[in-house]
Amino acid sequence: MLKHAIQPTTFNDLVFENPNAQQKLQQYANGTLQGSIILHGPYGTGKSTAAAIVAEQTRKHTNGMIDFPINTFSGDDFPSNALNRIENGWTGAGTNFRYAVIDEFDQLDNKTMSKIRKIMDKHYGVYGLILTTNELYKIHNAIQSRCDVIEMPALSPNTLLPMCRKVLQQGGVTWTDKQILTAINTQSDIRAVLRQMDAAIAQVTSANQQNAVPTSRQNVGQIAQKTRK
Ligand SMILES: Nc1ncnc2c1ncn2[C@@H]1O[C@H](COP(=O)(O)OP(=O)(O)OP(=O)(O)O)[C@@H](O)[C@H]1O
Ligand SMILES: [Mg+2]
Repeated sequence: MLKHAIQPTTFNDLVFENPNAQQKLQQYANGTLQGSIILHGPYGTGKSTAAAIVAEQTRKHTNGMIDFPINTFSGDDFPSNALNRIENGWTGAGTNFRYAVIDEFDQLDNKTMSKIRKIMDKHYGVYGLILTTNELYKIHNAIQSRCDVIEMPALSPNTLLPMCRKVLQQGGVTWTDKQILTAINTQSDIRAVLRQMDAAIAQVTSANQQNAVPTSRQNVGQIAQKTRK
């Protein structure tokens, strides 16, 4: 975890390059739309974060008496009882629409994808999945056909700018937008950009500390002289 990262907690904290994706996901989050979703796009565009927030907001929106957490799995570490747990989590929500999240869905084998297709049909229109992937083509067409397929494209520097401003401000660094855009350069991965901001804060902080503390005999002498005056 980076020292100066800000973990998004609500839908409004998320950043989107694609206004259609933003509008659609907002509708899923507030319950205007219901159904399974695939979020696809390059690394570090906020897919898993958006999936978790949409699922969580939906849960709050349609909250029943019994409050189960959202089930979240990853396709590259998918336990054998995951499908049972997903179905139990759904049915535990009663008549409330409920999501389960599977990140890195493309990592699942054919057999598991076929089983998932069956449970999607069994609960169609009542409960849903949010799936994330970097490689949409690896997801069976049959599953894509059962989902709203939403692209989360690479983020542009201007889209990342407000997030960077916020992080820098919290870290006590004042940079112009031009400086921030130069630091972002062509990076579109939120992780890489946050690392860059973290490094900038660390550099400014240590420079400030060095200025505040006398580091050489000369500095000590100068300070002593000023004090005597
Ligand atoms: N709007 C945001 N503001 C600040 N940090 C964010 C934002 N969205 C995501 N992040 C952070 O950026 C990192 C990457 O986000 P996330 O894991 O959602 O990307 P991803 O698209 O799922 O990446 P991958 O394709 O590698 O799975 C996470 O540490 C997350 O906390
Ligand atoms: Mg992810």
